[in-house]
Amino acid sequence: MNDKNSNKMWGGRFSVSPSEVMEEINASFAYDQRFAEQDIRGSKAHAAMLATQGIITKTDAKTIAKGLDTVLEEIKSGNFQWQRSLEDVHMNVEARLTEIVGPAAGRLHTARSRNDQVATDFRLYIRDTIDVIDRSLADLQKTLATKADTYAGTVMPGFTHLQPAQPVTFGHHLLAYVEMFARDRSRLADARKRLNECPLGAAALAGTSFPIDRKATATALDFAAPTANSLDSVSDRDFVLEVLSTATICATHMSRFAEEIVIWSTPQFGFIQLSDAWTTGSSIMPQKRNPDAAELVRAKVGRIAGAFNSLTLVMKGLPLAYSKDMQEDKEVTFDALDSFMIALAAMNGMVQDMEPAPEAMAAAAGSGFSTATDLADWLVRELKLPFREAHHVTGCVVSMAEKADCELWELPLETLQSVEPRISKDIYSVLSVEKSVASRTSYGGTAPQNVRKVARSWIKRLDRAPYNR
Ligand code: ARG
Repeated sequence: MNDKNSNKMWGGRFSVSPSEVMEEINASFAYDQRFAEQDIRGSKAHAAMLATQGIITKTDAKTIAKGLDTVLEEIKSGNFQWQRSLEDVHMNVEARLTEIVGPAAGRLHTARSRNDQVATDFRLYIRDTIDVIDRSLADLQKTLATKADTYAGTVMPGFTHLQPAQPVTFGHHLLAYVEMFARDRSRLADARKRLNECPLGAAALAGTSFPIDRKATATALDFAAPTANSLDSVSDRDFVLEVLSTATICATHMSRFAEEIVIWSTPQFGFIQLSDAWTTGSSIMPQKRNPDAAELVRAKVGRIAGAFNSLTLVMKGLPLAYSKDMQEDKEVTFDALDSFMIALAAMNGMVQDMEPAPEAMAAAAGSGFSTATDLADWLVRELKLPFREAHHVTGCVVSMAEKADCELWELPLETLQSVEPRISKDIYSVLSVEKSVASRTSYGGTAPQNVRKVARSWIKRLDRAPYNR
C-alpha cells in the first residue's frame, strides 16, 4: 500500500492508494468513455498546435497523433482495457498512449488540464448530438408535412377542453406539430451557436504561461472562437443545460402528440389505427392492441425534464471554477439525450405508420354541434347581428337541437325561425362540417386549400434546406 507507485496517476505526491470506495465514487470511465472520439479529436488538435507553437517538437506531435489513432481504433473495436484506477476517459487514453508511444505521450498534457479537456469534449459531444437531433426533427417534420398534404381535406373534430369545439382537418392538426418542431429546431440551432466556442487552453482555470494559440485549436475543432474567460471556460455547463431544456420542451411536444395517438387509437375514438409494427398485444387479453410506443414517448419527458432538473441542482451554488460535482453532469445527460433520440425515432415511425379512419373522424367532427360557431357567424354576416347576440340566438338553437336529439342541420327551418324570424334556408349551407372547414380560409386557418399550401411549402423548404447544418 505504501510504495511510491501505489497511486497510478499521482504517484509523485501520493504514497497510499485510494480506498476502494474512493476509487468507485471517483471513477467516470464507465460512462465518459463515450467521449473517446471527441477526446482524441481534441488531443490531436492540441498536440498539433503545441508543435506549431514550438512547445513540443513536430516529431513528438506526429508520434502522439499516430498513437492516438491507434488508441481510438482499440476503443472502437472493443480491444481497449479500461482501468477504473485511471478514473476517466482522459487518463485511460493518456495511459494507453504512453504504453504505445512512450515518453512523447507525457508532453501531450502541456498547457492543458482535464478541466478544459472535459469541457471541450462535452461541447464537441453536445454539438455532434445537436446535429443528429436536428436531422431527426427535420425528418419528423417531413413525415408530418407529407401526411398533412395527403390528408389536407380530411375533417376531424378540433377540441378545446377535449370537448368537440369546431371541425378542423387532420392535415391541419399534423401541421401544428410541424410548427412546434420548427421552434424546437430553432432553439437547438441557437444553443449550438452559443456553445460553439472552444475552452481548450483555459487549462486548469487560469490559462497558461506557454505561448499557445487558442484560435488555432478552436479552428481545428470547428469552433467559431476560443472562449473568452478561462474561469468561465472550465466551470460553464450552460451548454448542457440549454440542450436539456430544449429537449425538455421538444419532448413535451412529443408527449402531447403521443397522448393524442393514445386517445385517437382507442376503439372509442377510432380515429387512427397503428399497425402491428407499432403496437403490442396483451399476455392475457387476446383482443388488445396497445399503443406502447406512444405511451413510452409520452413518458420520456419525465426522464428528460428530470435530467435538466438534476443538472440544474448540481450546478446551483457551485463556486468557480471546476469542482468534482461537475462530473455528475454526464450520466443524466446521456440518458436524457438517448431517451430523447429514441422517442424521436419512435414518433417518426408512428406517424408514418398511422392510418387515419376518415369516416370515424368525419362522424365525430359533426357531433357535439361543432358548427354552432358557423351558425353564429352566419347571423353576424347575413343579419348583421352583433356577435354576442348571435351567440345567444345560436345557444337557443343548440338547446332545441339537444332537446330534439338531432343535429343542427336536421332542425326544420320553422324551428330556427321561431328563435330568429329572419333566418333563411341559406343558413343550411354553412352548417355542414365540410362547409365549415372550407370557410376557414383566414391566414393560418384550417381550410383544406390553406393546409395543402402550407404542407407543400414545408415539404419544399425541408427538401431545400433539410438540416440546420
Ligand atoms: N472526469 C472528470 C469530470 O468529468 C474530468 C475532470 C477532472 N478534473 C479534476 N480537476 N479532477 O469532471
